[in-house]
Amino acid sequence: MISDPCPRGRIFIKQLWERVYPQLVPAVLKAFHEGVDDLAQGGSFHGYGPEQGYSWLAQTIIDKAYKPLGVQLETSEVFISDGSKCDSANILDIFNIDCKVAIGDPVYPVYNDTNVMVGRTGEADKQGYYEGIVYMPCTEENGFAPVYPSEKVDIIYLCFPNNPTGTVATKEQLKGWVDYARANDAVILFDAAYEAFITEAEIPHSIYEIEGAKECAIEFRSFSKTAGFTGVRCGLTVVPHELLATTASGERVQLNQLWNRRQCTKFNGVSYPVQKAAAAVYSDEGWAQVQEIIDYYMANAEIIRKGLDAAGITCYGGVNAPYIWLKTPQGMTSWDFFDKLLNECFVVGTPGSGFGPSGEGYFRLSAFGERENVAEAVKRIVEKWGK
Ligand SMILES: Cc1ncc(COP(=O)(O)O)c(C=O)c1O
Repeated sequence: MISDPCPRGRIFIKQLWERVYPQLVPAVLKAFHEGVDDLAQGGSFHGYGPEQGYSWLAQTIIDKAYKPLGVQLETSEVFISDGSKCDSANILDIFNIDCKVAIGDPVYPVYNDTNVMVGRTGEADKQGYYEGIVYMPCTEENGFAPVYPSEKVDIIYLCFPNNPTGTVATKEQLKGWVDYARANDAVILFDAAYEAFITEAEIPHSIYEIEGAKECAIEFRSFSKTAGFTGVRCGLTVVPHELLATTASGERVQLNQLWNRRQCTKFNGVSYPVQKAAAAVYSDEGWAQVQEIIDYYMANAEIIRKGLDAAGITCYGGVNAPYIWLKTPQGMTSWDFFDKLLNECFVVGTPGSGFGPSGEGYFRLSAFGERENVAEAVKRIVEKWGK
C-alpha cells in the first residue's frame, strides 16, 4: 500500500503514483497519441488554446458527468485545468484576504497550507491550529462529518468522498451545508476529486445535485485518481453563473467572471493532447476501461476494510472512497504506528496526525496498489495487531 504526500509539517512521503497506475487505459492513450500527431500538421496544429479549456471537452464533461446527475451546466461554467490541487489553491486569488475560512480537521493539507501561505492566518498553536482559521473537527463521535462553524465564515471547504477519512456526505447532509452557506452568504469550495469511487447509489457525486448549490458552491474535479492522470495533469473547476459574492464595498459580483479573469491572466490552459486524452475518458470504451480500474481499487479497499474489521481493528471509509481510515491499535500515536508498520511489517501508509490534530491516533491506508501486495499487507497487519 502506498501513499500520496502530505506536505503538512513533518510528513512528506514520496509520491508513488507511477506504481499505482502503471499505464493510461488504451482508449485514453490512443487519443493522447492522436492529439500529438495533430500537432505535426499545419491543418490540425493547435497553439495557444482557450485558457478555460476547449469547449468540446467542457461539453463532453457536462453531457457525460453532470447531465446524468440531473445537473445542467453551460460550457462557460466549466474551467479545464491542470488539476484540483492547483485550482483549490489558486481559487484563493479571487477572495479578499480578510475572508474568514473554515476547514475540516483532519483535511487534505492544501486547503490549510495555501491559506497560511497567502497570509490569511497568524501563527500555529502547539496543536497545529493556525490563528484565524475556523477548524471543524471531524471525529469518530460526529461520524467524521464537519459541523457548522461556530462563527461567521466566508469560505467553507468540503471534500467528499473525503481524503483522508474516506467518508461521504449524504444528500441531506449536503443540503444542510447548502442551506447554511446561502443563509450566511458563504461560498462552499467542494472538492469532489474522488467522486468516481462512490459505489452506493444514493450518495451524491456533485454538490449541484442539491437545490440551490449553484448559488453558493464551486466544485473541483480531477482526472488524477479517476483515470491515472496524476502525471498527465488535468482537472476541472465549475463556477456557476448564479454564484455571486459580496465585495468589500457591498457590490454583488459573479465569481465566474473573476475566475475567468484570473485564469486568462495567470494560466495558459491545458495542452491540446492532454485535453484530447481527457475527453477519451468519457468515450464508451474509455469509461469502461477506467471503470474496470476503479472497480479493481475498490475491491482492494474492501479487502483492507473487511480484513481489518474481522481482526477487530476499527476502521472507516473504503466503501465510497479508496482510503481506509483506521484507529491505531493499542492507542498508539499515528507516528508510532507508522514506524512499527514500516519497520516491522514493511508496509507504508500515512499517519493521520499529518492531516491535522484530529487525525492523531488514526492512520490512512490507500487501496491504490497491486492486489497481492494489498492482501499481503492486510495479512501482516492482522497477524501483528488482530484480536
Ligand atoms: C482531496 C484531494 N483533492 C485534490 C487532489 C489533487 O488532485 P490533482 O491531482 O487533480 O491536483 C488530491 C490528491 O491527492 C486530493 O486528495
